[in-house]
Amino acid sequence: MYILMQIMKIEKYLLMIVEIMKVNWANTKHKKEHFAIDITQKNYSKTIQIGDVFDIDYSKIDKIDLLIGGSPCTYWSNARLKGTGRELTPDGIGGQLFMQYVRALKETKSKYFLYENNNSMSKEIKNFITKELGVEPIMINSSLVSGQIRRRLYWTNIPIKQLPKDKNIKLKDILEKEVDDKYYLSEKMQKYAMSSGTKKFYVKPEINLEKARPLTTVPNKRAGTTTYITDDFVNGGSKERMRKLTPLEYERLQTIPENYTYLTGHKFEDSKRYKVIGNAWTVDVIAHIFSYLENKGGNNEK
Ligand SMILES: C[S@@+](CC[C@H](N)C(=O)[O-])C[C@H]1O[C@@H](n2cnc3c(N)ncnc32)[C@H](O)[C@@H]1O
Repeated sequence: MYILMQIMKIEKYLLMIVEIMKVNWANTKHKKEHFAIDITQKNYSKTIQIGDVFDIDYSKIDKIDLLIGGSPCTYWSNARLKGTGRELTPDGIGGQLFMQYVRALKETKSKYFLYENNNSMSKEIKNFITKELGVEPIMINSSLVSGQIRRRLYWTNIPIKQLPKDKNIKLKDILEKEVDDKYYLSEKMQKYAMSSGTKKFYVKPEINLEKARPLTTVPNKRAGTTTYITDDFVNGGSKERMRKLTPLEYERLQTIPENYTYLTGHKFEDSKRYKVIGNAWTVDVIAHIFSYLENKGGNNEK
């Protein structure tokens, strides 16, 4: 079976799930994403990177059985602040990127497809995607299989019969007991994190939550949008010092294998890891969907 994927990191996870892969799309124009490509190659060195989605000539690609992708949601998501160009209709950049997925599907004639995006997109965009792909989306919250709340829409022709079973995993269950000082907030940063935002963008600061907030690519925001914890929540220590999550905890919240995104330990590597993990799919959600692929015998949950 050949697998064509739009995005870099997930491919590796999918590869682990289906144990096979042939082609991978990588983003050559967005230089910042090279870390994701490096992570793919570290874990699956035979991955073929075929560049920008706008430039791919599908006539040069062998038969595809499964096409998966999640085009950038940054233009559509309500995480984008009001007045900063959030797109509510499909005729912007977000729509152009999505249409590259549609082109891939038409030109490869892939037997199966899975397209994912953020639940918070506008109704008009959601309807447009549904019309183009010809199936209704299924909303799956990653909180069923992990300690993170993450509502995502999945459009697929894989015959999913039920949602994943709730594994009842809490944020507390996946935390590291002791972490490096660098993850603790300075006094100044702590004050900023606990503020409730501006009139335009009000958020209620809350820490030590039962489930982590949806992981974002940058974990340095206010406590109303980012997950922070204090030591007493983890190991009975101090109530005073707040810290952000570590890259390892980020991986656990996406059910990605531990240290999958660790590369060199370079000084600035943490922020790159947050970014690729925040962009990624929740592995166990995808594994659940794939359990319904033909010849897998349906939902294989234990
Ligand atoms: C939200 S992320 C999706 C990540 C993916 N679902 C995963 O789990 O790894 C969107 C990705 O699209 C990639 N991308 C953006 N523009 C692209 C383009 N023109 N060609 C190929 N990839 C592109 C970005 O680099 C980013 O990794």
